[in-house]
Amino acid sequence: MLKSSMAGSLAIAAAAALGCAPCAKMDGWNVFSRDTFSLPQRTLDAIPVWPGARVADVGAGDGYFTWRLAQAVGPDGRVWAVEVTDRAAAKLARGASQRGLANVEVVRGAYDDPKLPDGQADVVLLSSVYHHLDERVAYMARLRRDLAPGARVAIVEPRASWESWLLLLPPGHGVAPATIRSEMARAGYRPVASFDFLPAHSFEVFAAGG
Ligand SMILES: C[S@@+](CC[C@H](N)C(=O)[O-])C[C@H]1O[C@@H](n2cnc3c(N)ncnc32)[C@H](O)[C@@H]1O
Repeated sequence: MLKSSMAGSLAIAAAAALGCAPCAKMDGWNVFSRDTFSLPQRTLDAIPVWPGARVADVGAGDGYFTWRLAQAVGPDGRVWAVEVTDRAAAKLARGASQRGLANVEVVRGAYDDPKLPDGQADVVLLSSVYHHLDERVAYMARLRRDLAPGARVAIVEPRASWESWLLLLPPGHGVAPATIRSEMARAGYRPVASFDFLPAHSFEVFAAGG
């Protein structure tokens, strides 16, 4: 992972030198930092995430967004960090404990069910996770039960275009925004926002309901 992201950074540095358009969207020129490409604060502001919100970070991975979400929601908020293997869940729990983040609860989800409490999530984030889901429409339809009234579901996904090459993602790695929108409609969601400020990812926000 580290090797791949460093190689990706070098590729971006090379592309930046050649004047690539997505590079203009990067937050600075530290190509060795994920923040440069993920623009986490801008992403959380755009969804939005607010103090006191209850947020699910589905497919939390190494907790990149979990720790930032925990800061954003503060002590009155809650972050459910969902992962599908015991190993990943244990690593997230250790990370939360080391950071003293009492508002993070690690959830061992299933591949077809995030195992969140019913009707409580104000915000759900899937960052580079949507393309990992086996049955995407069924999964997202199932997720609707876990949403609080007015909840937002944010999907950040590698672009299925040449920009994804910059991060050394294989062709077809990400699901294209048009496909995401069509699948989300079938799962019972309507689009509420679409952002184009991330260098190598699409960013779509949905709410439940037609
Ligand atoms: C590319 S990583 C993204 C990690 C994190 N969201 C980030 O942006 O750094 C994808 C993660 O999704 C998780 N995942 C895959 N299928 C999942 C599912 N059905 N439910 C929850 N997580 C899943 C994987 O275990 C992996 O950690």
